[in-house]
Amino acid sequence: MIIEDIKKRVEKGEKVKILFVCLGNICRSPAAHGVMERLVKEQGVADQFEIDSAGLYGGHAGDLPDSRMRAHARRRGLELTHRSRKVRESDFDRFDIIVAMDDSNYDQLRAMAPTPEDEKKVVKMADFFTQHPWADCVPDPYYDGAQGFENALDLIEDGCFTLLKQVLAK
Ligand code: 4NP
Repeated sequence: MIIEDIKKRVEKGEKVKILFVCLGNICRSPAAHGVMERLVKEQGVADQFEIDSAGLYGGHAGDLPDSRMRAHARRRGLELTHRSRKVRESDFDRFDIIVAMDDSNYDQLRAMAPTPEDEKKVVKMADFFTQHPWADCVPDPYYDGAQGFENALDLIEDGCFTLLKQVLAK
């Protein structure tokens, strides 16, 4: 299991590199990126982690996160300043774990992985939901109203918290 490999990195004092991926890299994955950066700071382990996000669709490359996601995140005290970028093949080498927001992202990432080892790095955010056990993905809020953005942030906070907890568990 990839989490066990990552725990070994933490034990050895090696940096853990996490990439969050969605479709546009303007709503869900930059939010996960911001949430996880805040969590590692709060836990006093920021120097042990490198966090980034990217999208499978490159059409928003260079853009700030969607203004609606920025506004909803700001209400939770998070400033999202990431600039969208497309996933690249070298990400599979650079990152230790690649967290997909939904099944489509997951399938595309697994298909893109250059090696079977790299394929194992791809996981679903839903695997880490503990407060929302009925949810099976972070749904794309792009065409939704405010509730979609709040729901996405609730799921992302839940998944990031549990992922970090698992990685840091002794
Ligand atoms: P995201 O949302 O994948 O959470 O960043 C989307 C943003 C833009 C598009 C799709 C999803 N789009 O097709 O432009």
